[in-house]
Amino acid sequence: MKGTVHITSGKQQALQRLFFMVTCCLTVMIAQAQNETIVALKTENLVNPIGIDVDQPRFSWQQQSKREGAKQVAYQVIVGTDSVAVANNRGESWDSGKQSSDALKASYGGQALQPFSRYYWKVLLWDDQGQQRSAQQLAFFETGMRKQENWKGAWISDDNGIAVKPAAYFRKQFQTSKKIKSARAYIAAGGLYELYLNGQKVGNHRLDPAYTRFDRRNLYVSYDVTQQLQQGNNAIGVLMGNGWYNHQSTAVWFFDKAPWRNRPTFCLDLRITYDDGSIETIVTDKSWKTSLSPIIFNSIYTAEHYDARLEQKGWNTTTFDASKWKDVIYRSAPSTHVVSQVMPPIRNVKKIAATSMRKLNDTTYVFDFGQNFSGVSELHVEGKEGTVVRLKHGERLYDNGHVDISNIDQHYRPTDDKDPFQTDIVILSGSSDTFMPKFNYKGFQYVEVTSSEPIDLKQESLTGYFMHSDVTPVGTIRSSNPVINKIWAATNQAYLSNLFGYPTDCPQREKNGWTGDAHIAIETGLYNFDGISVYEKWLADHRDEQQPNGVLPSIIPTDGWGYEWGNGLDWTSTIAIIPWNVYLFYGDATLLRDSYDAIKRYVNHVEEQYPTGLTSWGLGDWVPVKSKSPVEFSSSIYYYTDSRILSEAAKLLGKEDDAEKYAQLADKIKTAINQKYFNKQTGIYGEGLQTELSMALYWGIVPEEFKVKVADNLAKRVAADNFHLDVGLLGTKSILNALSENGYADVAYKVASQEDYPSWGWWIKNGATTLYENWNIGSERDISLNHIMFGEIGAWLYKGLGGIKPDPRQPGFKHVLLEPHFVQGLDNFEASHVGPYGEIKTSWKRKGKKVELTVVVPANSTATLHLPRQGSKALTSGNYTFEWKE
Ligand code: BGC
Repeated sequence: MKGTVHITSGKQQALQRLFFMVTCCLTVMIAQAQNETIVALKTENLVNPIGIDVDQPRFSWQQQSKREGAKQVAYQVIVGTDSVAVANNRGESWDSGKQSSDALKASYGGQALQPFSRYYWKVLLWDDQGQQRSAQQLAFFETGMRKQENWKGAWISDDNGIAVKPAAYFRKQFQTSKKIKSARAYIAAGGLYELYLNGQKVGNHRLDPAYTRFDRRNLYVSYDVTQQLQQGNNAIGVLMGNGWYNHQSTAVWFFDKAPWRNRPTFCLDLRITYDDGSIETIVTDKSWKTSLSPIIFNSIYTAEHYDARLEQKGWNTTTFDASKWKDVIYRSAPSTHVVSQVMPPIRNVKKIAATSMRKLNDTTYVFDFGQNFSGVSELHVEGKEGTVVRLKHGERLYDNGHVDISNIDQHYRPTDDKDPFQTDIVILSGSSDTFMPKFNYKGFQYVEVTSSEPIDLKQESLTGYFMHSDVTPVGTIRSSNPVINKIWAATNQAYLSNLFGYPTDCPQREKNGWTGDAHIAIETGLYNFDGISVYEKWLADHRDEQQPNGVLPSIIPTDGWGYEWGNGLDWTSTIAIIPWNVYLFYGDATLLRDSYDAIKRYVNHVEEQYPTGLTSWGLGDWVPVKSKSPVEFSSSIYYYTDSRILSEAAKLLGKEDDAEKYAQLADKIKTAINQKYFNKQTGIYGEGLQTELSMALYWGIVPEEFKVKVADNLAKRVAADNFHLDVGLLGTKSILNALSENGYADVAYKVASQEDYPSWGWWIKNGATTLYENWNIGSERDISLNHIMFGEIGAWLYKGLGGIKPDPRQPGFKHVLLEPHFVQGLDNFEASHVGPYGEIKTSWKRKGKKVELTVVVPANSTATLHLPRQGSKALTSGNYTFEWKE
């Protein structure tokens, strides 16, 4: 439906009221109800996943409809192993029955799920017009091992020690005599694996399995390999890399001393179902053979070295002669907790061509990819046998054109010169060679290729691959300000560059799961990408790392580093903030429920340590422009936030006593903060810095009656700072939001769109394609050029300009708060986010003296449109256009 409001008179006040009250005067154009379908069928938030081991998988779907008020009034989920029966509405495993409900989700409630089984499911949906619909295709999910006892293989490895550098090959040949109906490979590893069947790589995942605290929890990955097996002779090949499991490089976090460290090991079950119904499982055991591979060194942290002269052609095929290979050895499992990896894998998501190549001399070339990203480069080269080629990856160039890595190697502590930072080394075979590292990634824009003998390279000789967890994009921002568009793109580029099965701080210097960076970026992440399963995995990592007394380390996963530094409230509040945001964005309380005890333990610990309600445990406003707010102030605000979230979670989960107890604790903390830091006379917190005033507003510390005054003071402070930022990590979360939520959207936009120092635009103007770690580009330290830390602006664009916000009372955008701001200096702006109900969009543009606003509210949700100084209007689902004079 399309409604148009024309407000032409200059008498704004009255007419604006009219805009909202006299809805009967809307010019209404009824659009055809078109393409009403059910889409986005997912199990455990993934499309047709394999390896689902939970007892009650979560199903979700969306009703696609452009009809105003379109709504599901009932649903029925039907699940069974027989696709024909399910298609005919017979679910032998589960039939939910017709449920009168507008929920677009249900959790499996049928018979116990069997392992290794494919379950088909469909949903019947009854809409508000009495129509019954279902999606055209059935959805499915497949269970994996379900139980530890169902593994049949043994953990194997070669008999080398942790210091041995080359990666190992493993292979096994086997016969199948009967016709194959289907086959699945299940592989768990300590370290990283690449799996091959008959010479071909299985799947397109990279750096699998994802990083966990290996001695507490290991991930296994499932593949459908039916097509890759053949009747008769088959060969399985596995190449094992170190990853974080056998960290041979040395840096300040001592991953080389990780308690789990060991030579990579894996366990594999290849389960073949034959046409006659019989099952055979090919497993890892003593019949496997092993040999060292041409990967002569591999480090997730630094780089990979490859000697092409050592290639063993066809090592993973049936025709290979493995008589010289060695026997494998049995190994103990890294942990006894082996669980399915259920999230989008890391992939080579985007191919990036070099934008230029400079030949400095016969043996030195510098490639520029025109953008900073995480991933690898692939080299195609021909040269004299034994030529040593080095590929140094970095983010900056020296004036003389060489690659400069001095901004990213300062925490590296090499013990010799054999493992240079971010530098792959390839030894050429003498014929043409192709090299792309398999067990490493880097952060870079430039690659300097040097060789021991002259080589001839072209711009096409080197290709970049942007690697990250392949999460689906769910958000778009478009505006008339190209710098804002670039800031949004750079924020996403930095976010993705820092998503590798866990959120990291930077893809080059550290690759650490810094907690603080991640909770600041959670909204940016969730507005732009469907990341729920990565966060569910990472919060399981949190639970693995939590001390019995509730303490968490500052980086997760960790080898043990970080329990003593950086792990105060302002960082490790991830434990509460991430589940809470996942709940707000998805309307799914699973992660809150799973994290509840951990949050409680954490808050209880802080309460024990800091009975006054104030805590100075934290790092404070990290890498600020100039002013630094007191650590006690900011950390106590996070303590307040955690207690509040805990109380809300308790309420949701029916834990009345806890809800009351932690609400009281939150009140006590808030009172303590206000008593110590708030001056009621002046309406100033502390010294009245941007971070102090904005954090108090944003996190709900300011007593209601003082909000206007404090906001006014914040706007004045920002004006006194010449409408430029004076914040660090913590203030960056609150500054723009506090302004736009409290009547100063124009001021927020002014700050957000600055193009000189200090601002996001300043980076862009200086060529940034990602976000930086430091406002000061010329800084000597803390100057990674691909940090997500200052990324809240990516979320603010949706909130502060597009005005799309989840309503905590009806989360998951069941009810959408729409509060767009038509800020001075911007002609048009569009924000779109695909939430659990479908696409939500606000799009506004100035047309002469008029403003036109288009709003899309998806089926099954409602919205409240609120415009500053104009009041509110309730909307059902549909497409709306409003137009009025400013
Ligand atoms: C990281 C930051 C992190 C910080 C903690 C840095 O080295 O790169 O992003 O949050 O340490 O102090």
